[in-house]
Amino acid sequence: MGGGANKPELIVNGKRLDGRGFDELRPIKIVAGGLKNAAGSAYLEWGNNKVLAAVYGPKEALPKHTQDPEKAVIKCRYAMAPFSSLEEHNRSGPNRRAIEISKVTKEVFENVIMLEDFPGSEIDIYIEVLQSDGGTRAAGITCASVALAMSGIPMTDLPYAVSVGKANGHLILDLNKSEDNFSDADMPIAIGPRTGDILLLQMDGDLSKEEVGRGLTMAKKAGEIVSKLQMDALRAPYEKILERYKV
Ligand code: CDP
Repeated sequence: MGGGANKPELIVNGKRLDGRGFDELRPIKIVAGGLKNAAGSAYLEWGNNKVLAAVYGPKEALPKHTQDPEKAVIKCRYAMAPFSSLEEHNRSGPNRRAIEISKVTKEVFENVIMLEDFPGSEIDIYIEVLQSDGGTRAAGITCASVALAMSGIPMTDLPYAVSVGKANGHLILDLNKSEDNFSDADMPIAIGPRTGDILLLQMDGDLSKEEVGRGLTMAKKAGEIVSKLQMDALRAPYEKILERYKV
């Protein structure tokens, strides 16, 4: 965000620097499953982001003081691998940013997982960013949704997330890292497509009320594509099985 006097032009001849239109997503690939020891897992590539999500549980919440007798508790850890970016300040272990992203991700899933079905339990969600290029919290939430669905933990919705921002006076969808660094605003949004509920909305920079409204519309439209990719990923393992029985 920002960039001061050395801010580069992010829009040239009506196109973004990577050639995308204003409301165009980067290519997304989602693979459901993959980790044998997890209850559910998924791998996602979103532009140059590479993310792995793993879900464990529900299991007895430990230490015991973390238990809630009424419902399950979610423990969420978002982490960027030390080799995931070239930035010097990136290093192992949780920093303030990772703690914040873990917290907002946990809140997304608290709204859709049927926690009351598992009193006294914990559900662990791990998001490991293997390669980062802007929008990793959105990529992580989108990937963790698929991992949760694979685990069979009941959810009322399958959330996706995407970011909207502003560069050179234009609203742009799905900011990559250089756009994130030098844009005027970045607004990551998570939505439950069944209910339309907004499950996360953060904002860095400035957007007018009208721009926030337009940004939400942009995010929902892109969300139809992201949702479909999540569903296709969940369907794929079963289609492989069904192929065996085709006559
Ligand atoms: O990834 P996201 O856009 O959700 O979060 P951000 O804090 O806005 O970070 C934007 C991008 O900066 C990340 O996706 C990374 O590519 C990069 N970054 C990094 O390389 N090292 C960090 N410690 C923090 C961010």
